[in-house]
Amino acid sequence: MHALILGAAGMIGRRLVDVLVAEGRVGGQPLTGLTLLDVVTPTAPEGVPGPVRAEAADLTAPGAAEAAIRDRPEVIFHLAAVVSGEAEANFDLGYRVNLDATRSLFEAIRAAHEAEGYTPKVVFTSSLAVFGPPFPAVIPDDHILRPATSYGTQKAMGEMLLADYARRGIFGGIGLRLPTICVRPGKPNKAASGFFSGIIREPLAGQEAILPVPDTVRHWFASPAAAVGFLTHAAELDLARLGTRRSLTMPGVSATVAEEIEALRRAAGDKAVALIRRQPDEAVQRIVETWPESFDTAAATDLGFRADASFDAIVAQHIAAFHGG
Ligand SMILES: NC(=O)c1ccc[n+]([C@@H]2O[C@H](COP(=O)([O-])OP(=O)(O)OC[C@H]3O[C@@H](n4cnc5c(N)ncnc54)[C@H](O)[C@@H]3O)[C@@H](O)[C@H]2O)c1
Repeated sequence: MHALILGAAGMIGRRLVDVLVAEGRVGGQPLTGLTLLDVVTPTAPEGVPGPVRAEAADLTAPGAAEAAIRDRPEVIFHLAAVVSGEAEANFDLGYRVNLDATRSLFEAIRAAHEAEGYTPKVVFTSSLAVFGPPFPAVIPDDHILRPATSYGTQKAMGEMLLADYARRGIFGGIGLRLPTICVRPGKPNKAASGFFSGIIREPLAGQEAILPVPDTVRHWFASPAAAVGFLTHAAELDLARLGTRRSLTMPGVSATVAEEIEALRRAAGDKAVALIRRQPDEAVQRIVETWPESFDTAAATDLGFRADASFDAIVAQHIAAFHGG
């Protein structure tokens, strides 16, 4: 099977490429080709037994969606997006990338579907930001979509489009509401959630980390490896099992900042914890107050999606990947 990854140079996209190439499979079949697109030129991997196209492409540009599906990939992972903080700061950019480019992609697939019967499987990455307050303590699978940010609104609209195009048989579609990814490697990005990773990643690298919110803040997490596991599992899943529920909240680990810090202490000791500097930031606190804390994800769990075992496991995974164990 040929796979297309949109947003292939991103944090999750890069890991997904590595896993698909290492496993040599996608959607339960041998991997026969890869198309990797991103505004930042993705790195072309070695070892794919078939054509690899890794190119810079701005999916908001006219004709970009048609060009993206030129190789008629059987599986499309749509990860390209402007993240939460940036979509809030730049209204036009957020709507252009997160909504308009998604619709253009779906329209390009529709044209090819109508012309030649092309019917790929689309795995769309949505977010917990489709939900907004007030929240119950544990949010059920069918909680109302009531986004409190532009990013969440754009993802919710993406979910709706996905459901409608899939209902019409234009493509097989599944939306995954990813938990906040932690520990996010590399430099901090513009996501307001960045500190959740920063307070683990920076101390483990011997650097100071800023904590802008109280220790009592609770949130829903998955490791980068778990996120890639959700994507590869979605690509394999028989979508008839979804019924009318096209987008699913992915299982995660619910943890407070205090629990994160204790997991860091167990892994790296008091010296690492001492590198966390509390510097309350009201703007970040206000955003975080609108975020959910915990979910009942029975629908996804029943379909075989699996979370990390604990927050300690999330920390251990980051240490194994970036600090040689
Ligand atoms: N990381 C998280 O905590 C998290 C949580 C929930 C959902 N998600 C979603 O998962 C997906 C992947 O997230 P990530 O953490 O890897 O984000 P990321 O920012 O690292 O990757 C997104 C990629 O999209 C690319 N992109 C942006 N605009 C583009 C355009 N116009 N054309 C082509 N490419 C463009 C970026 O260059 C980037 O490489 C995103 O859709 C994100 O909204 C992530």
